[in-house]
Amino acid sequence: MSPDGSPARVLRLGVNIDHVATVRNARGGAVPDPVRAARLAEEAGADGITAHLREDRRHISDADIEHLMAELTLPLNFEMAATPEMQAIALRHRPHAVCIVPERREERTTEGGLEVAREENRLAHFIAPLREAGCRVSIFIAADPRQIEAAHRIGAQVIELHTGAYCDAVAEGRAEDAARDLGALTEMAAFADSLGLEVHAGHGLTYDSVGPIAALPQVVELNIGHFLIGEAIFRGLGPAITEMRRLMEAARAGAVA
Ligand code: PXP
Repeated sequence: MSPDGSPARVLRLGVNIDHVATVRNARGGAVPDPVRAARLAEEAGADGITAHLREDRRHISDADIEHLMAELTLPLNFEMAATPEMQAIALRHRPHAVCIVPERREERTTEGGLEVAREENRLAHFIAPLREAGCRVSIFIAADPRQIEAAHRIGAQVIELHTGAYCDAVAEGRAEDAARDLGALTEMAAFADSLGLEVHAGHGLTYDSVGPIAALPQVVELNIGHFLIGEAIFRGLGPAITEMRRLMEAARAGAVA
């Protein structure tokens, strides 16, 4: 049971395999294969696979998306920028979920959440055909009530809260910043849920930072990539994922005990 007496919700793990493709692309060949990583993730207990097809194709390629769609049994969460090219690719493949993320060519990773409030009209038109095609549309945003309200107004079914700043604060030992960021994520997860939005979270999560996010009762999915692929170097991908799942479940069980 949750603290409010409602049944505890299941927490899913989406494994982001982008950085398997990063390592492959460092040599330009065919290995390591992201599809093989996706299969291993499934065996290790992942509930979904996440892949970001960036405009510059720096990691995941168009062929990777085709192979994942053809060979995966797990649902694919397709991360993409709100561009006509990406919309056409998503409409061709109709993945289970589409997560709209901001993208700047010069950034190393997705640095902030999407500015939904400023682009409401364009984004409402952009996501409508994706919803009609049967994709669950998620918007990657900061823990900001303006953005959450805007995501709700444009018709998104899901928001993914950006946990990057919180995770950086944990990693750098900035306890006050971590507490402040966690407070905002806690409040905004509850706010989004009260609007009827499904709440996901992700970016930068590690074994040290995952617990408090997994414990948020409204969060039903975490998307985790870079840390897991790095940890796989030391303990193997399957065991790295199994340990993440164990920590997620322990935090969830502690929060609802
Ligand atoms: N969720 C979203 C929307 C992302 O853009 C990313 C990074 O691609 C992730 C989750 C996973 O972040 P990380 O690789 O830092 O775990």
